[in-house]
Amino acid sequence: MAEENKTAAASQEQVQNDDDVVTPFEINAKDDTGIDYDKLIDKYGCFPITPELIARIERAIGEKCHRFIRRGIFFCQRDIEQILDAYENKKPFYLYTGRGPSADALHMGHCIPFIFTQWLQRVFDVPLVIQITDDEKYIYKPEIELDGPKGSIAMGLQNVKDILAFGFNPDKTFIFSDCGYIGHMYQNVIRVQKHVNYSQIKGIFGFKAEDNVGKFAFPPVQAVPAFSNTFPHIFGKGHFPCLIPAAIDQDPYFRMTRDIAQKLKYKKPASIYSTFFPALQGKKSKMSSSDPNSSILVSDKPEDIKKKINKYAKTGGGQTVEEHRANGCDLEVDVPFQYLTFFMEDDDLLEDIRVKYAKGDLLSGEVKMQLIKIIQAFVVELQTARKKVTDADVEHFMSIRPIEKMPTKWLAAKASSAVEAGVTLFSDSVGNMQTASV
Ligand code: TRP
Repeated sequence: MAEENKTAAASQEQVQNDDDVVTPFEINAKDDTGIDYDKLIDKYGCFPITPELIARIERAIGEKCHRFIRRGIFFCQRDIEQILDAYENKKPFYLYTGRGPSADALHMGHCIPFIFTQWLQRVFDVPLVIQITDDEKYIYKPEIELDGPKGSIAMGLQNVKDILAFGFNPDKTFIFSDCGYIGHMYQNVIRVQKHVNYSQIKGIFGFKAEDNVGKFAFPPVQAVPAFSNTFPHIFGKGHFPCLIPAAIDQDPYFRMTRDIAQKLKYKKPASIYSTFFPALQGKKSKMSSSDPNSSILVSDKPEDIKKKINKYAKTGGGQTVEEHRANGCDLEVDVPFQYLTFFMEDDDLLEDIRVKYAKGDLLSGEVKMQLIKIIQAFVVELQTARKKVTDADVEHFMSIRPIEKMPTKWLAAKASSAVEAGVTLFSDSVGNMQTASV
């Protein structure tokens, strides 16, 4: 190809890539084949999860990686090698993830990071902090109130119950709402705020001059849980490495966090990112709470799940059985198959379906039937676990407390710095205040 044609092709690629919109506030692919994640890796400067990396993780943890890693659902990362170095050398690290309470109940898409984080916590046996951004959703969503039964604070506490159904370790997990815990985070928040300017926030997040100032001020709040000294009751003043499992749209926050970590001489957090869970209508958009027909909720009844999948799930199959048998199915755009890759555990069975469905030997109705069973079983299990979650559990997970059963090394590191960190300066009252207000 002539040089100028190559350049033309490259810039065309750039244009097409730019047609995919991926921000923390909007996800929109140019068509039903979904987001081009390889291009996103390049654009964001992340690193793919290679077969070598998967092999290293499996050697370290002594078991097979989660299906989300095996199937490229968690597909890219930053500095995960440093986390593995720490783990292999028996040095501590912790996990940080979060949830913005935009609805009463989680949908299937929201489950992906929590399923994965629970797995990470189990295999590495490390502390985990979970941020509930009741401030964020109030600031960014005009229709969301702060208090009242439908306010973001109340929805956040409902979400905590859903989150607890995933089975996080009660001895090693701290869940906090921003509105409740902000006083403890504030010193780090202002450290970050001082080191990032208006243009940077505008550039990273695309805010406009007429946007409310809360939007500009919030990103540092999502940044600071990545610094361990934000949690002196757990980590003392120690600077422990942090690994953030999240969906890729959260990367702008953590690019900013890493940049500022350097300026503050804090450790840069590592991250591991997932693709999006598609809407029932197709991979053009992700599952969203604002469109009830696009999403399967964790509170849905088995009949609702069946109805939604049968009625709304976009397929890549033929219009008629004859056409389907003759031409096969385009799995790239087929939502039932995509969902199976997220939720079917058995690799061999999934491969068998892939081959037969692509050829047209399996019909969309048959694949949907298998999917419905799997999703129903998952949701029923989660609902059963959620029913067992009590207010006392919520209070326990959200109470400002030392993490029990920390490895001895951690305790040693903590003891030397706990007093200095002002652990006793903060009483439990702030954390408990907001759990009491449910
Ligand atoms: N901003 C995220 C949301 O809208 C919530 C969140 C806060 C988060 N901290 C996080 C997500 C860390 C992943 C990792 O849902």
